[in-house]
Amino acid sequence: MLETEILGMKLSNPLFLAAGILGTTSSSMKMVARAGAGGIVTKSFSIEPNDGYENPTIVKIEGGVINSVGLASPGVEAKKEELKELDEIRDKTPVIASIYGNSEEVFCDVAERTKDYVDAFELNVSCPHAQCGFGSNIGEDPDLTHSIVSSVKDAIKDVPIVVKLTPNVTDITEIAKAAETAGADALTLINSVGPGLRIDYQTGKPILNNVLGGIAGPMIKPIALKCVYQTYKVVDIPIFGVGGIKDYKDALEFIYAGASLLQIGTSIMYEGPEIFKNISDDLSNFLEENGYSNISEIVGLSHRV
Ligand SMILES: Cc1cc2nc3c(=O)[nH]c(=O)nc-3n(C[C@H](O)[C@H](O)[C@H](O)COP(=O)(O)O)c2cc1C
Repeated sequence: MLETEILGMKLSNPLFLAAGILGTTSSSMKMVARAGAGGIVTKSFSIEPNDGYENPTIVKIEGGVINSVGLASPGVEAKKEELKELDEIRDKTPVIASIYGNSEEVFCDVAERTKDYVDAFELNVSCPHAQCGFGSNIGEDPDLTHSIVSSVKDAIKDVPIVVKLTPNVTDITEIAKAAETAGADALTLINSVGPGLRIDYQTGKPILNNVLGGIAGPMIKPIALKCVYQTYKVVDIPIFGVGGIKDYKDALEFIYAGASLLQIGTSIMYEGPEIFKNISDDLSNFLEENGYSNISEIVGLSHRV
């Protein structure tokens, strides 16, 4: 009932691990696969190792977290070794590599070096707390987004390219159309919101070492849903919905708004990796009880009622 085939990937269910949560080592990604995720998106990586920002890099807020991990990564060569370890799970649980950079050359180089070990790439042009020139510095600009996506598309012929967008723009549909025109095979909406700030009420000091960080978790769901809903109207490529999903009702809202695939991040910190099996089971039951035979029948339902 939840089986689907999209971007050449055969999936047992549409629920992917979102970039940045448990996607750092091959053992944590295998554990998430065993827990029932339909697919994995790795933590974002680039060519060079990057320590990210100093601790504290994550703080709780009501309904989520603020993080400023700062795209910490071991670099492409170390990541390649982790990706090789995932070979044994990829027939059942496809792996999408989340990559970032500050130029067309960097994106293409990272993709070239890892393309044999992944089922798709997700281009992170949307991190709200990346260093200047990276992340949302690219994804806030339709022309820059277009040129990065089209270069990676030209360089990598046989691996699908997903583009992950930032909600922190006036009109996300403009960026979404730029990515689609440049050849994106799918979109992921959304990266974290903000940035936002928390201050220690006793000392007056910002809690995160980097002061600001991206907001994630259930509190951003309405913004993520709006982005999926608006974008579904203007593009013809599949959408991964992500932002605050914690149960099957949230998953249904994203599917109705237009997402055919979903990603889960922050809620894993609260519910554990069993969230994938719980949501899959509940979604299957919902479809059966409501007379649907496949999830594709309800993608974009909100646009038809
Ligand atoms: C601790 C943490 C680290 C993250 N790291 C990345 C990352 O490396 N690349 C990326 O594209 N998104 C990253 N994200 C964003 C998530 O993938 C996701 O888009 C966002 O958190 C919204 O989903 P959620 O509410 O289910 O967490 C990170 C989020 C968190 C909370």
